[in-house]
This record gives sequence, C-alpha cells and structure tokens, in this order.
Amino acid sequence: MALELMALIARIVAMAGTAAALQHRSPCLRYPPGVHVVPLPEIQRQFLLSVPVEFAREVPLVLGFHGFSDSPWYFNAFSDFSKHINRYGWLGILPFGLDEHGTNGLGGVNACCPDDCLDDCCTKGLHLRQKNETACRWSNAKDMSFIEEIVKWAGENTCIDQSKVFATGFSNGGVFTNYLACHAGHLIRAFAPISGDNPALDCDVSHPISYVSICGTADDEAMCQYSFEDTAESLSKLHNCAGAGPAGAPVTFQRSATTSCKVWDACPQQNFVEVCRTEGLSHDISGHLRPDSTSYLRPGSDLDFAEYAFQKFSLLANGSMLFWGEPTDEQLRYKESQWPPPPHQDHIYLRNSYQAPSASTLS
Ligand SMILES: *[C@@H]1O[C@H](CO)[C@@H](O)[C@H](O)[C@H]1NC(C)=O
Ligand SMILES: *[C@@H]1O[C@H](CO)[C@@H](O)[C@H](O)[C@H]1NC(C)=O
Repeated sequence: MALELMALIARIVAMAGTAAALQHRSPCLRYPPGVHVVPLPEIQRQFLLSVPVEFAREVPLVLGFHGFSDSPWYFNAFSDFSKHINRYGWLGILPFGLDEHGTNGLGGVNACCPDDCLDDCCTKGLHLRQKNETACRWSNAKDMSFIEEIVKWAGENTCIDQSKVFATGFSNGGVFTNYLACHAGHLIRAFAPISGDNPALDCDVSHPISYVSICGTADDEAMCQYSFEDTAESLSKLHNCAGAGPAGAPVTFQRSATTSCKVWDACPQQNFVEVCRTEGLSHDISGHLRPDSTSYLRPGSDLDFAEYAFQKFSLLANGSMLFWGEPTDEQLRYKESQWPPPPHQDHIYLRNSYQAPSASTLS
C-alpha cells in the first residue's frame, strides 16, 4: 500500500516534470512527503528523494546505495528505507547507479529495471536485471563527483544539517559505501555497508568517521565474510579507536542467537567502529527479505540491520529525531490522570498497525 502510494507519487512527479507547484512541506524543500525522482541535468545523473511526512529539527540526511543489477526502488523495498526515514523524520536520498557505458544517467523511474519489469513492477522491486553491461552499478572513484553534487544539492535545496550526513548500501552499494568511508569523510559522518566489502586502502583520515558493517557468514555473491572484519579493524586503527577489552581490544557482543558484533566504542569525537556477522546468512540484508521473493526464510533472531544502522546513526544525531524528549512530564501527568490511560489518535501513519490474530475456540 505504502509502496503503491510512493509509486503513484513518483509517476505524478514524473508526469508533471516538476514538483514546484506543490505546497512546501518544510522550510527549504519543495517536495511533498513520498518518493520522487530528482534529475541533476548538469551532470546527467538522478536520485530518488525520500521525504518524510514530518521533519525532525536539524534534519539528518541518509544516503542509500543499491546493489549491482538492482535499483534504488529495490533497495528501498528490501531495507524499508523510507519507513525508517518517516519514523526518524530524516531526509533520504537513494541515488541511481549507471550502466557500464554510462548511458542511462537520466533514465527516469525505470532507469535500472529490466525491460519486462517497468513502472509498478520496477518501483516494487519485483524483478532484477541480468548482470550484464546494461545493469546499474557503482564505480568507486568514478562516482565520487556524483556524491559531491548530491550533498551540494541537498545543501542548496533542503535544510539538512550538513554535519549529520550518513550512508548505507547493499552489495555493490556496500562496496561503494566502504569506498566512501575511506574517501568522503569530509562529506559524510557515518557509514553502514551491508554485504559488501572494500579494503581500507589509502584512506583520507583527516575527518573522524563512524562505521558499522555487516556480512552473512554464508554470503554466496559478495564473499565479504572473508575480509570485512579486517576492513573494520583497519578503520579502527586508522581512526585511533579503542574497544573496552584489555589494552583497548574490541569486545564482541552476541546480539542474538544468530548475530554477533565486534565493537570499538571509543574513537575520537564520539565515533565508533563496529562489525557484525549473521551466522549462515547468504547474500541478503540481515533481518530482511528481498522484494522479489528470492530470499530463503531465516531465523527470526537475525539482527534487523536496516533498523540497527539507523539506531547507530542516531548516536551522532544529537537528538534530531521525531519525538525526542517525549513523553514530557505534562504528557505523563495526563496519562496518569485516568485509568485505563487515555488512548492516542495522533500520527496514525506511524502507529503500529498490529493485527490481532483472530481467536479460535477448540470444541
Ligand atoms: C542484458 O540484460 C537485459 C535484461 O535484464 C536484456 O534485455 C539485454 O538484452 C541484455 N544485454 C545483453 C548485451 O546481453
Ligand atoms: C545539540 O543540540 C542542542 C540543542 O538540543 C544544542 O544546544 C547543541 O549545541 C547541539 N550540539 C551540537 C554538537 O550540535
């Protein structure tokens, strides 16, 4: 339902060519809540803009990079990205990668989808492209100027807090996120690569960063399980981090039966480095199922890593989150004024639509 609405909004925006006529949602932003294709004609590139229904103050920005042969739509559906954007009141940007020859930079809604899966099928992420030269991908150094342009666009066209820009990405997008952790510390504060590794070579460490990475121990496509912990360790050293173990060694926390995380929680300026592994997980986002139904079901104990990445980013958000500081003393007094407590009908779009199982009576 939410995705259908987003797809509809995207199509309306695509048809109108511009969202200028629509009412301002927040200071400095001319796009209404929902997901919009935003072109940057000067550099022949485009991205999806995920706008929350309500904004936190001093809005953080999260960049999300899709994998090789998938699309921003697929990554959005796979990771519940826009759901988290709404929940936190942050702004999201999901850039489109390019085909090998760089010919689809302004390809619109369907830029990265296969020809037999357009519009609704594309925006719901129901089908992947073949992994051939026409598939969208990230090319590390070659895509660096696109990231600079995106952050510049956000500075000029929105009211984000430029000190709170975070990045995540899956697979090839995770590889790219690792590249950015090494080379874009001047633009981005924290990085959460998923199922994609890139060794921390020749890193620019002039800006302190935070980092949390994850890979399944049975990854059958990115094979990140063999190197991703070394990458995290290198970054922890490059950024002078220490863990809470003897002589600053990292501590490993068993987060659940299937996910554990190794933590360096003392880096300069409140930064952290952390690396998580989900036992037996193949090339998927821990705690999530692919929108094209190609994931095997997994134990419910797998860490929901999209949620976890936002929680880690929140450590650097200085309270820029919806409902920070609530309930207030006044709200608690109202709650305690009667029994049962008064129910709430505000922010219905965020309240859990928990469906109680229907009771059956054994006879
Ligand atoms: C690449 O894959 C797409 C489908 O995803 C297909 O339409 C196209 O013909 C393929 N191109 C080549 C050169 O194989
Ligand atoms: C954190 O937010 C408070 C307001 O809630 C502000 O006074 C303070 O300057 C902020 N700190 C930083 C480092 O931005």
